[in-house]
Amino acid sequence: MSNERWRKKLLGNRELSPETLMMGYGYDPFLSERSLKPPVFHTSTFVFRTAKDGKEFFELAYGLRQKRPNEEPGLIYSRINNPDLQILEDRLAIWDEAENNLAFASGMAAISTSLWAYARPGSVIVHSGPVYGGTDFLLKRILPQFGVTSIEFPAEGGAKAMEEAADRAHEIGPIAALYLETPANPTNGIVDIRRARLLAESLRDGRTPVIIVDNTMLGPLFQTPLAEGADLVVTSLTKYVGGHSDLIAGGCSGAAAALEPIRGMRTILGTMCDPHTGWLLMRSLETLKLRMTAAAEGARRVADYLQNHPAVASVWYLGFLPEDHPDRPVFERQCKGAGSTFGFEVKGGEAQAFAVLDRLEVIKLAVSLGGTETLASHPASMTHSDIPPEEQMRLGITPALIRLSVGIENPDDLIADLDQALRR
Ligand SMILES: Cc1ncc(COP(=O)(O)O)c(C=O)c1O
Repeated sequence: MSNERWRKKLLGNRELSPETLMMGYGYDPFLSERSLKPPVFHTSTFVFRTAKDGKEFFELAYGLRQKRPNEEPGLIYSRINNPDLQILEDRLAIWDEAENNLAFASGMAAISTSLWAYARPGSVIVHSGPVYGGTDFLLKRILPQFGVTSIEFPAEGGAKAMEEAADRAHEIGPIAALYLETPANPTNGIVDIRRARLLAESLRDGRTPVIIVDNTMLGPLFQTPLAEGADLVVTSLTKYVGGHSDLIAGGCSGAAAALEPIRGMRTILGTMCDPHTGWLLMRSLETLKLRMTAAAEGARRVADYLQNHPAVASVWYLGFLPEDHPDRPVFERQCKGAGSTFGFEVKGGEAQAFAVLDRLEVIKLAVSLGGTETLASHPASMTHSDIPPEEQMRLGITPALIRLSVGIENPDDLIADLDQALRR
């Protein structure tokens, strides 16, 4: 879809920033009637110039031969590749500081396809808890039906809990993956990715497990897990990257070799992103930094307000981690910001939390996060309701917990809305 001219990351010696590269990287206007923006390639299949071309494209796509120097994968069929996805994937890889990226139909498509590619019957996935409700269901209810066990450790248990979980896993079978959701949805618990790397390297059962990090909560702006030692980073692009609550998509970034089995699995499962969603995501990427920065500033203001409110029992905003909290040094090293999604507990229980949620007027009562608008939800009865109540309590998902995803409205309006909802 482009020659090297459109893949330049340097201006002289100057390294161009991701936000600059989002305006054109990987797209050659002269291949598309000089259109400034990439067209949406609404097509299921691509015409081969010759039968030999078709044969060679398939050979490469199906891994039947090595790529020749400077060879670009030929376009075949939109389940295998599509220009919109290729440009999008090049741009997502820039944000994730990765060699490559694969775009998926949803965050869950990215997570499940990646785990299918690495797990084998008899193997174990060691994962942090809590994880997003859908991931929890996949790990605890679906993968066991295929002989894959999952062992959970609490995010707040630190490296010790992770190491103990790995010891327990070893008694069952080889560890296929260390799966970390950090910060965790909805508790903002933090897992030390560097410690996970050390643990993975120390396991001597013939195979180093792949480290997969779900980076949905902070997005690529505030955390780059590959730089910390992860092999793969999965993201629900539905959230901050899409950013407008108008699409569902996912991504997985990493080294090309680590992505290869996932690419093959995606082709067969058909879990890829569609071209139109890919195009929308490219549009969103142009404002990613602006949106996430503004939302993070607003979140800080809202968190400060909640922190001092008499009807609020606790605020789980990452910027409030006390100096002596064990997560504090990990947060400072691993994260570049506190993001804009956090939970707070009202005094009381579910009834009090529901009353506040029902009174909100500006803030919308909806699940999801990372959009331009502020959303409030009740994890225990909504996104994480699949998790049994006693386990929810153990993971910190209490009945009084409200999750807020702060958008880019005027923070004073959001504070006024929370003020009237908490006061009445
Ligand atoms: C942390 C996290 N990971 C993954 C997902 C799943 O993403 P999607 O809804 O795009 O499948 C979500 C969705 O809320 C999430 O919050």
